[in-house]
Amino acid sequence: MNVHGTHYRTIRVKKDNPAVVQIIDQRHLPHRFIIEDLSTVDEMAVAIRDMHARGAGLIGACAGYGIYIAALNAPKNSIEIFMSSLEEAGGKLKATRPTAVNLTWAVDRQIEAISTAGGDVEARIQTALKTAEIIADEDADFCRRIGEHGAALIEEISRRKKGDTVNILTHCNAGWLAFVDYGTATAPIYAAHDSGIRVHVWVDETRPRNQGARLTAWELGEHGVPHSVIADNVGGHLMQHGMVDIVITGTDRTTYTGDVGNKIGTYLKALAAKDNNIPFYVALPSSTFDWKMKDGVSEIPIERRNAAEVRTINGLYKGEIVTVQLVPDNSPGVNYAFDVTPARLVTGLITERGICDASAEGVLDLYPEKGV
Ligand code: MRU
Repeated sequence: MNVHGTHYRTIRVKKDNPAVVQIIDQRHLPHRFIIEDLSTVDEMAVAIRDMHARGAGLIGACAGYGIYIAALNAPKNSIEIFMSSLEEAGGKLKATRPTAVNLTWAVDRQIEAISTAGGDVEARIQTALKTAEIIADEDADFCRRIGEHGAALIEEISRRKKGDTVNILTHCNAGWLAFVDYGTATAPIYAAHDSGIRVHVWVDETRPRNQGARLTAWELGEHGVPHSVIADNVGGHLMQHGMVDIVITGTDRTTYTGDVGNKIGTYLKALAAKDNNIPFYVALPSSTFDWKMKDGVSEIPIERRNAAEVRTINGLYKGEIVTVQLVPDNSPGVNYAFDVTPARLVTGLITERGICDASAEGVLDLYPEKGV
């Protein structure tokens, strides 16, 4: 997507130095646009863990490039030692964040591709680079297709409203910053907006990391999409008063039965949408399905992050990004980063292959080869 008129992806190999992978360091957005250079697997692991790069698809792409960097730096005295060093790097990357399934999926895909292609160490490094690029390209392409399928839903509402503005509520950031390009929840919005449909987006701020207020708002603004940032608890009120036509969120892990793991607070929005008869859609590429898990509430691992993220808040003060304390000195914070929205509250899933019911039948109809 464009930043000040220049096209960016969230991750790439540095132009004049293929030993370096570059990401947008999202901790500084929306106030500063900073590109970070990463050249070791430890640096990549920190970037994922501390959320310089975040969002399901981008975490997957980071894992892909992380294994490529690991391959460049691995001991090269024997294939066995080289491969076991990659396995170790994969374990390190997988341990950074537990909820987004794309992370494990990408590490496993890389190791499998490198082992299957075989060859000497140099050939395996080239396979790692190629696979990292395939993972990233595929992510962008799948998101673009999600945009096309999802835009039809917005178009239909616009027709029903005789061209009046379609109000869409989204939670957290499932935009292009959370993927390699386009995003998932935002892709249909960009596609609809670009085709001339009048849209307006309610952007949940998404405490504690404020990915909505900081990132989704910035992305939409850069693309010229009308939007308003709201406090996390406003959605229910808007829905009761006919001010939301559709909710579209992303997801970090969705079971093949349609239970949706997403940023904390998503479940409450789904409950409010159900109570008000408002369609609640979840957009995801197939890399975000967990083909083994059946019951999201009991099985999806929920990341617990540092309480400091709840107890404090970051913002711009006199030109500097500062952290300030919100709570009494001795009040502890608890930080559950994700929750699970049961399939019965989800109207449908928007995937790269089309839209389906949030159920095993619906999902497996689109992905019959995954038959479980
Ligand atoms: O903790 P994050 O920022 O990595 O969480 C991921 C998210 O942004 C959301 O949960 C998003 O809606 C799904 S991932 C695209």
